[in-house]
Amino acid sequence: MKKTFKDIDVAGKKVFVRVDFNVPQDDNKNITDETRILAALPTINYLVKQNARVILCSHLGRPKGVVNEKYSLAPVAARLSELLNMEVKMAEDVVGPSAKELTSNMKDGEIVLLENVRFHAEEEKNNDDFARELASLAEIFVNDAFGTAHRAHASTAGIAKYLPAVAGFLMDKEVVALTNATENAEKPLVVILGGAKVSDKIGVISALMTKANTILIGGAMANTFIAAMGHDVGYSKYEADKIDLAKEIMEKAEQLNVKLVLPVDVAAGNDLSADVKPKNFAIDKIAKEYSAFDIGKKTCKLFAKEIKKAKTIIWNGPMGVFEFERFKKGTLAVAKAVAKSNALSVVGGGDSVAAINSLGFADKVSHISTGGGATLEFLEGANLPGVAMLQDKEEKKTVTPDFAAMDKQTTDKFTDK
Ligand code: 3PG
Repeated sequence: MKKTFKDIDVAGKKVFVRVDFNVPQDDNKNITDETRILAALPTINYLVKQNARVILCSHLGRPKGVVNEKYSLAPVAARLSELLNMEVKMAEDVVGPSAKELTSNMKDGEIVLLENVRFHAEEEKNNDDFARELASLAEIFVNDAFGTAHRAHASTAGIAKYLPAVAGFLMDKEVVALTNATENAEKPLVVILGGAKVSDKIGVISALMTKANTILIGGAMANTFIAAMGHDVGYSKYEADKIDLAKEIMEKAEQLNVKLVLPVDVAAGNDLSADVKPKNFAIDKIAKEYSAFDIGKKTCKLFAKEIKKAKTIIWNGPMGVFEFERFKKGTLAVAKAVAKSNALSVVGGGDSVAAINSLGFADKVSHISTGGGATLEFLEGANLPGVAMLQDKEEKKTVTPDFAAMDKQTTDKFTDK
């Protein structure tokens, strides 16, 4: 367990809070999904109420170490001000004159948002001098950027060497929810995986294979399994070079007594366009000129039946081409089944979360993860650098004995020195 901001006194202190405000924007810089900003509010509100001086730091996009107005956090500062109903001062730089001036003249309970930390190439290199410079702005480091916790960067990991480092509310919530769904999962644990590539999810499949009772596979990655079963997938997208891997996964599931459930039918089209009419095919009868773009009707029912048996559910990845109205039915069917279930449910990944939100089911899911890559790496069992660097809640009580000193004492005792 990691220490959180509630375990330390923050009143009147300058607190450097790493958040993940990497939010999508349209061409007019309107934020199109503010989930990550909303998720950071509990930590910010708490710190403001405790009279801390809150210095917020985030990246936005991948500006590759150069200042690029397109990736400025200014629109986020404006939206955050509205949401908090208080002024959020926006620094024009990260560790330059503007940041230094604003952060040194802060009053208790004030908020400053630094400019995009990735405007410095040193950030992604986890440069030690840069980490120290970031740390010099504050007295405490709170990491609330779960979405970026898989990156060992200066503002997510390096800075923790120079300041007392604790988890924020969101970071803590994510780690607890994902740990409860994996390490402490109540069985049956049903894992639902979708998305395009087997290679993207192989780490998660291998790690969860030893914990899950059932694994449901949809999305284009299922086509590779269908091909591995010897069926012709027509024009469907699949990874020919991952067929052996798919076979290995199927064998491993059998050895471990894990129920690996693959689609029995698919919704296919002869073109991927808004007006194409989906046709349902059993997996051994996919017509040559068709491509599978979603799981089929029978599979929707089959997956829903398996989800109903779960006490714990982990879902990551869409069942079909969710961007197209006619091929989002599988993903929506899974979203409905997950929302209906009383199991502890954790959902991660853009399209799966969008499906839950579009049905208004967010409050019917136990936890919606704000992480993309971070969630997958956590599920793979990785020790995320942004979490590992934080202080532990309880100091370890077991002290390694100093055998050399003990030996000396023993020797001294017996030689009467
Ligand atoms: C994300 O969107 O997954 C995080 O903000 C991390 O962004 P990155 O993949 O650019 O490091």
